[in-house]
Amino acid sequence: MKKGLILDLDGVICDTAKFHFEAWKHLAAEYHYSLTEADNEALKGVSRADSLTFILKQANHSISPEQFTSDLNRKNKWYLSLVEEMDQSFLLHGVFDFFSKAKELNMPLALGSASKNAKLVLEKVGLLNHFNAIVDANLVTNGKPNPETFLKAAELINIPPNQCIVFEDSVSGIEAAISGNMYAVGIGNASDLPKANICIPDLGKFDFNTLTL
Ligand code: BG6
Ligand code: MG
Repeated sequence: MKKGLILDLDGVICDTAKFHFEAWKHLAAEYHYSLTEADNEALKGVSRADSLTFILKQANHSISPEQFTSDLNRKNKWYLSLVEEMDQSFLLHGVFDFFSKAKELNMPLALGSASKNAKLVLEKVGLLNHFNAIVDANLVTNGKPNPETFLKAAELINIPPNQCIVFEDSVSGIEAAISGNMYAVGIGNASDLPKANICIPDLGKFDFNTLTL
């Protein structure tokens, strides 16, 4: 029986994956690299610093540590200028239904996000006070695909990992859930997330009968 629900943020709860992509595209262009959709899939769930390392490798470019820090800050500034415009309309389909069903069943809900901006984004979409625990990149040492984010979330809601379900839209997040011994629900296409236990298009399509697994 599954008892705890752990949700990723970007691309699962709200439509912010496209903002990260926009901001990284802008930066990559400065290095004469055109970021592809495939790069975007690979970057989902990956921390800000690891994302920049990936892009520099693709662009075959190396930069000083000072430039690296400055690039991270500039990317975040572009990203935040897009987040600034957000409100509840940026919630992905089915989020409200999912939250009300989870509350009805009295199931603890945790956030497990690789973003350092998670709380700000949750505030923008009006969900900051709807979680029993929030684990973001400020709280962990090892980002996804390491399971630390989800293990910490499970610990904070006091549910053993094998009784938790993780909802993720990224390859690295699905890997983190599986290696943390959790049931992994992919949000998106099975072809993009082959290691997920099941895939659904959005949270609204989650069948709560799955909890009896
Ligand atoms: C993840 C996103 O949730 O957070 C990644 O999928 C992003 O695309 C990562 O790079 C880090 O986000 P932030 O907000 O700390 O730059
Ligand atoms: Mg995500």
